[in-house]
Amino acid sequence: MTALITKDLQLALSHLRNGDIVAFPTETVYGLGADAKNPLAIQKVFLAKDRPADHPLIVHIASVDQLSAWAKDIPPIAYSLAQNFWPGPLTMILRKQAEVSPLITGGQDTVGIRIPNHPLTLELLAQFGSGLVGPSANKYGRVSPTSAQHVADDLNNEVAAILDGGACSIGIESTIISLVDDKAVIMRQGDITAQQLAVVLGYTPAVNKSQDNIIRSSGSHESHYAPLTPVYLLSKDELISACKEYTAQQQKVSVLSFSDKPSDLAIDLYWQTIQRDPKSYAHNLYANLRAHDQLHNSAILIEQVAHDLEWAAITDRLVRASFK
Ligand code: TXA
Ligand code: MG
Repeated sequence: MTALITKDLQLALSHLRNGDIVAFPTETVYGLGADAKNPLAIQKVFLAKDRPADHPLIVHIASVDQLSAWAKDIPPIAYSLAQNFWPGPLTMILRKQAEVSPLITGGQDTVGIRIPNHPLTLELLAQFGSGLVGPSANKYGRVSPTSAQHVADDLNNEVAAILDGGACSIGIESTIISLVDDKAVIMRQGDITAQQLAVVLGYTPAVNKSQDNIIRSSGSHESHYAPLTPVYLLSKDELISACKEYTAQQQKVSVLSFSDKPSDLAIDLYWQTIQRDPKSYAHNLYANLRAHDQLHNSAILIEQVAHDLEWAAITDRLVRASFK
């Protein structure tokens, strides 16, 4: 089966109603969509991704009216967050309704939910009339897709269709916030920062950095978002010396840096200079990692980014991409 890249919403809907998988665009990354009420369809998603069964999926819905169909004991703050950030790159972890399949939640009593901000997918969800599970449309542990072609590169044989909504505007996955305890906790950093959330919450939420937390979150495993080529995060000086060492050993590397290539380095080195702007960095991050990976060099050397809030979600992805 060869997946069809299409803009045909009705075709996508008919596949989804049939229990098949359709990749869909969002403002963050492409999702691997399946009917969240159909256990066989959900199982197909785990198989397509090679994802362990105990890693929960998030449910995508079209409107906040549908929230109570999936979650219960919803705290008022969830509605305030929804009002401020939905549709948008925020996933809320809430207590699940009894009917929500344990396949979705990895057997936990909580469920992750979001309304994505992409016109095509909002229309798809509205017409579908129910929830769609939607993990990022990549193989487990690998780089997330930010274009229809990225999905085709990874999962061409596993999906019935790929709904083409162009390049994802944000480019990294949603911020995940858990609302199941008294205080909200950020489970995964994303475009919406702790500071933005603090304005609505009235306090700055903690960022969960625990490696062995009991709430399983596949994004929280250290090696993740990873190309097959080893990635190293280095200071600019370390990066230049590493280039010289690899070249001396007749090995090829590629570089992602904020400054231009020094003139004394090998000319056939693939050196990409990028802007020091977190929004455009995030927007291009996964496409860049994929392009560098396709060179099949000995290593991808990436210049470290700033240690500030604006770069926190990017740092998180880079650290996981480079984890050995
Ligand atoms: O931006 C996004 O969130 C994208 C787009 C497609 O919406 N989706 C996405 O899904 O990144 P995925 O499955 O790749 O990442 C969702 C994360 C996983 O790390 C999962 O383990 C975690 O959310 N998660 C889902 N339900 C959870 C729950 N009940 N408790 C804790 N973590 C949960
Ligand atoms: Mg993912």
